[in-house]
Parts: sequence; structure tokens; C-alpha cells
Amino acid sequence: MLDNMPPKSSETRKLNLDANVTKKDLKWAELGFQYHKTDYRFSAVHENGHWKDGALIGDEIIEIHEGAPSLHYAQQCFEGLKAQTAKDGRVVLFRPDLNSERMNQAATRLLMPEVPNEMFSQAIEETVRANYAWIPPYGSGASLYIRPMLIGEGENLGLNPAQRFQFRVFVSPVGPYYKEAGLAVISLAVSNMDRAAPNGTGSYKVGANYAGGLLATRKAQELGANEALYLDSAEGRYIDEAGSANIIIAMKGAKVITPLSDAILPSITRRSLMEIAARQLNMKIEERPIELRAEYTNFIEMGACGTAAVLSPVGRIWFDDSWHAVFEDGQTVGPIMQEMYDILVGIQKGDLADHYGWLHEVSI
Ligand code: PLP
Ligand code: COI
Repeated sequence: MLDNMPPKSSETRKLNLDANVTKKDLKWAELGFQYHKTDYRFSAVHENGHWKDGALIGDEIIEIHEGAPSLHYAQQCFEGLKAQTAKDGRVVLFRPDLNSERMNQAATRLLMPEVPNEMFSQAIEETVRANYAWIPPYGSGASLYIRPMLIGEGENLGLNPAQRFQFRVFVSPVGPYYKEAGLAVISLAVSNMDRAAPNGTGSYKVGANYAGGLLATRKAQELGANEALYLDSAEGRYIDEAGSANIIIAMKGAKVITPLSDAILPSITRRSLMEIAARQLNMKIEERPIELRAEYTNFIEMGACGTAAVLSPVGRIWFDDSWHAVFEDGQTVGPIMQEMYDILVGIQKGDLADHYGWLHEVSI
């Protein structure tokens, strides 16, 4: 099939049957979190007040006007979710309806058109199906990362919303976000830079929140940490979140706490883990401001959670010019994070019963 020819539904089905026999020859277990060009992506354009029909295309390059508001004024938002292969061969997504909802909240905040839920899920399913050969097999530890994005791309100069938008979905097979495979212990360094202002855009998944974090992440890595940890930007006292993940903390008394903050991304993974903690581990859960310096000695275990990060136990934190171990020697996975990880990943891969109705099967 020609690279740029979108497969029609019946063709997609046939393509996938072929692909089933010839899965890509990748070293799945060695994948990191990098971009791999896959065969198809979905693209739809919004112009003159309405969405035109979208289609699968082969070209990964977006041709864009030099004045486009997404390039100058960051009028864009994105999402992240994963497709996994279950043991029985089903291809499953984790709570994609929440990604759709969150993308539309960001779109509204940045004066972009909402992507209808139906179009969002159709785009994701079609892109996953068409790239079946790229979906890592069950047991490889890898998954297919799905990146929906919405960008303002029409001609413009002043500070105005775009006249034309593109909704695009591409996918890439990925391994762990942090280098080590599986449940790796990470470290975080408190940043002296702010991620998001009170009443700013911190709670939306918009590119504008991430550009400023590149330097913070670099500085954290120079200290030997995996990632930056941000405190609230009003007082620099309360934990907000890490550069690409939310924070959850196990406390004495079988309790799991997580920051209450208007400046953090409402993580779908965190929401799910808190539910797992309450319903399956019988722990008390609390969302409240967490004052790092005053409270960290009471932390039993800590984790950074997100689609890319999954649940990464945090062994130590850098602040006030020194390392502070959170759990034991800072290198060991604690039992609470281990159990939460096992349940979350077990549900996401279809190994454990999905009592919550969180999985969405993609028909292949
Ligand atoms: N916080 C930030 C800043 C993120 O980029 C992400 C990743 O999406 C998360 C938290 C985790 O959110 P989710 O669990 O919905 O992927
Ligand atoms: C995700 O976890 O999906 C994200 O978007 C985080 C990103 C920084 C890779």
C-alpha cells in the first residue's frame, strides 16, 4: 500500500490481518519512551466553524503557516493514553473517555473548537487499528502510546485565536518513561522555577505549561534526579506535581494522600490509583495541600504517576541543598507502591478483572 493512501475500513481490517502475521520486528522489551514513526495517523481540519471529515494519512510532517498561533502563542493542547495487548490478544485502551473530556476542557480554555467525543474515539480506534503491527505484544512490557493533539494552524499575526485548527492523532510504541524497565525507583529535585501560576493554565494539558519546564527538568537531571518536582508557585510550600506526573503519598494509618491544587493536571492515572487504594486496598484517601518541608518525615512511600510514568516509586527528593530519602535507602520499591502498581498495570493489561469498567476494547 502506498505510504500516503489512507486505508478504508475493510482495507484496514485486511491490513491488520496481514500485519498480525508480520508484527514489526522491534526489540519491544528494549524500547524507551521515544518517537517511532508508525504507518498511519489521523488528521481532521476545523475551518469556517465546522469539522471536515477526517482521514488516516501516511505523512508524519505537518505543513503549517508561519504565522500559526500554535507556533507563536502556544494555542495548542494534547493528550496521552496507551493501547495494550491483553493476554487473549484483545487490544485495550484505559479510560479514553476521560482523555476526550480533558482535551475539550483545554480546547475551551484556549478558544479552540471542541473535538466531538465520537470523533475523538473514532480517530483513536482507527489509528490504533491501522497501526496494529506496531502494537507491542503481551508480556513485552511495552505499549502503544497515543498522542492526540489539537493545534491552531491558520494564518495570523496579532494575539488572536486561529481561524483553522487541526486535530491529529499519532501513535508510537514505547517502553518505560524513566530509563529502567518495570517498576523503577526514581528521584525528584524540587525546582526553584514555577510550572504554573494560580489561576493560570496548570490544570490543562497545554504545551505552554511544558516549554518552561524543559530547563527545570535539565537542572533536576544535572543534580542526578530523574525529574523536577514543583511546589506551589504562590508560596513555594506545597507539593504541586512533577514535570510529567502527579504525586501520591502513602502515610501512616493506611492513608494515601495527594495534592489538592488548581495548578496541576488532573491525572487520570492518579484518579484511578486513588480509587484502587480506597476500594481494593481499604486505605483512607485524601486530597489536600501537602506541605513538603513540614510533612516529608511522615511520608512512608511516594510515587509519581501518569500515563507515561505509570507509577514510579520516588526514593528520594532533593530540596534545600540536600537529598532526603523518602523510603528506606532511596533505592527500594516499597510494598504499597508495589501493590498499587501491580493492580493498576494488571487492570490496564487485562490480567486482572476490570470491576470498574475502565478498559475499552478496540475492535481489530
Ligand atoms: N501531570 C503532568 C504534567 C502530565 O504531563 C501528565 C501526563 O499526562 C500527568 C500529570 C499524568 O496524567 P495522566 O495520568 O492523565 O496521564
Ligand atoms: C503522558 O504521560 O501522557 C504525558 O503526556 C507526559 C509527557 C511529558 C510525556
